[in-house]
Amino acid sequence: MGTSYRLAYWLGFTPWERQPLPPELEALVEGPGALPPGKALDLGCGRGAHAVYLASHGWKVTGVDLVTGALEKARRRAAEAGVDVQLLEGDVTRLGALGLSPGYRLVLDAGCFHGLSDPERAAYARGVTALRAPDAVALLFAFARGWRGPAPRGASAEDVASAFGPSWRLVRSEPARESRLPRPLKNARPMWHLLRAS
Ligand SMILES: C[S@@+](CC[C@H](N)C(=O)[O-])C[C@H]1O[C@@H](n2cnc3c(N)ncnc32)[C@H](O)[C@@H]1O
Repeated sequence: MGTSYRLAYWLGFTPWERQPLPPELEALVEGPGALPPGKALDLGCGRGAHAVYLASHGWKVTGVDLVTGALEKARRRAAEAGVDVQLLEGDVTRLGALGLSPGYRLVLDAGCFHGLSDPERAAYARGVTALRAPDAVALLFAFARGWRGPAPRGASAEDVASAFGPSWRLVRSEPARESRLPRPLKNARPMWHLLRAS
């Protein structure tokens, strides 16, 4: 998957960046009953749009991505917004290698998990679970499961719940309220999945 993303950034084919700020994320950060700011982990943070949004709302954000060029853009974006974001080049399936301290209250994944293989998802979930705060919330974007060539294979609610395991509770899975996907992905049926540490 890493090579495809490197190529996509290099070609400038990044349809996920045409999406508006997800209302599902905005609700957690600014809505009624918003989470109190704390440490947030943005997994597969790409060029940092969500990481910078969170940092601008008082969160202490760590963004992780494999693609150097995307992280460079994320660093510029954070500097332009006047916020500090910890941006790390690394693999979300090897979070333990990044030397992070636990205590993340919000885990955001806007389009990374759903492209991973089953063993990668399991490793990812182990890493996230080790880093979370006791009251953590995880918000994940995923296409419905299906074969779609080089695009992410997607993940059902059951896939998400089973990868995260019994120390998380899947609170809800809802169709994405806003999505501007290109034509080949029109049938991707994107969902947002919300989990809480249990
Ligand atoms: C669909 S893009 C979304 C980027 C960003 N979250 C956004 O919404 O703009 C998925 C991102 O996950 C990153 N990614 C995929 N697999 C990864 C892995 N194993 N470790 C770290 N990042 C990964 C890609 O490089 C890419 O930036």
